[in-house]
Amino acid sequence: MSQSDRDLGALDLECLWHPMLQHQGLAAAPRRIERGEGCFVYDAEGNRWLDGVSGLWCVNVGHGRAELADVAREQMAKLAYSPLTMSHEPAIRLAAKIVEWLGYPGKVYFSNSGSEANEAAFKIARQYHAQTGGAGRHKIIARYRGYHGNTLGALSATGQAERRLGYEPLVPGFVFTEAPDSYRQSADCAEALEQTILHEGADSVAAFIMEPIIAGGGVLLPPDDYLPRVREICTRHGVLLILDEVVTGFCRTGARFAHQRAGVQPDIITFAKGIASGYVPLGATVARNEIFAAFGGAAGGLDHFRHINTYAGHPVSTAVALRNIEILERERLEENAAAMGERLLTKLQPLLEQPNVGDVRGKGLLLGIELVADRATREPMEAETLTSIAQRCAEHGLIIGRTTNATPGLSNVLILAPPLILLEEEADLIARTLEEALLKVLPADATAR
Ligand SMILES: Cc1ncc(COP(=O)(O)O)c(C=O)c1O
Repeated sequence: MSQSDRDLGALDLECLWHPMLQHQGLAAAPRRIERGEGCFVYDAEGNRWLDGVSGLWCVNVGHGRAELADVAREQMAKLAYSPLTMSHEPAIRLAAKIVEWLGYPGKVYFSNSGSEANEAAFKIARQYHAQTGGAGRHKIIARYRGYHGNTLGALSATGQAERRLGYEPLVPGFVFTEAPDSYRQSADCAEALEQTILHEGADSVAAFIMEPIIAGGGVLLPPDDYLPRVREICTRHGVLLILDEVVTGFCRTGARFAHQRAGVQPDIITFAKGIASGYVPLGATVARNEIFAAFGGAAGGLDHFRHINTYAGHPVSTAVALRNIEILERERLEENAAAMGERLLTKLQPLLEQPNVGDVRGKGLLLGIELVADRATREPMEAETLTSIAQRCAEHGLIIGRTTNATPGLSNVLILAPPLILLEEEADLIARTLEEALLKVLPADATAR
């Protein structure tokens, strides 16, 4: 390690506040990544890791795309900044591309992150009702175990008690209902949603927000009929359906958008992460034209969406995102995500022979491996064991994710979400490394059960 590298490590510990990390007593700064290429990231010494979670599930087209850097440089030189109170070509073209990908007419409101995209969705939903005679409709129903962001509104819609701890009381008007968990319960969660709407009084409910597949909460896939039934229930009760496709959007699950598989159309949809593959920060909230139409009147003095972000629709972000989507199309990454996801899921199936592996599930390149201390009772594996497995994988060149600080007692799901350019041999490397780590780490007494 060179002197300057040592200096950086010391500076890091001295000045940088990392997310999700206890700094007290930290012997060394977190792993410092210097560059990325394809599915791999490298440190200054040339050590490499297969990035099995695409950063934070966002680097869909993989690392090191010079083409995206060129687009950013060209756009910055031409027009680095102009607000969307006026207009510019990259934002127009990106909005049109998103609408084309969705396959139904809508209006795209840009922001900078998934949290901001959801904040905009909540405000659009409330203002929509205020302008269409439903002034009492203010509540947002969300789901336990779902995650929608870190800002106070988005956190208020987040059904993960450990994420909320220390920040409560949050924003009033958010209500929770159960989300399907095929491994742990068989409740009819669409029916539960309808009951929640009825208990709250439909006239007080503005919207229901859900991830098509709960990602950070443990990769929870709903039954096939859940989303169509949710759509029907929301429509029947005048409740807007907001789909948070921040993780699942832009080919992650082997479809352009996860909801397209269910054949439903949400009223509002939110994006971030894969929209620009993490090369630039960008979020987007898309409202169907019927929703947008309500903003054309002057009811109650609310005649337009009174919400603005300085960087919303930033020329560089939108130019890069547009090229990112063109890469997804050109390289058929939707198909690759589906094929490699299938391959990885198949390769991981033998893990189920281990007594501590309760479930292996996923769609496209979003997969979860649920670990249990006792298979018969499904008692969740303790979090420390998952930490050890993740550490062991990292020692062998693989970065994986896991549920952390989400639902109390359920930090027991390992998560894989590699870049969508994944090759067959890279999928096999992930499966092999993970299996070796599991075999090494799982305690003998627990494996004996
Ligand atoms: C489903 C979902 N929605 C929203 C967000 C928030 O996105 P951001 O971190 O860009 O604010 C996340 C972040 O992980 C997410 O997983």
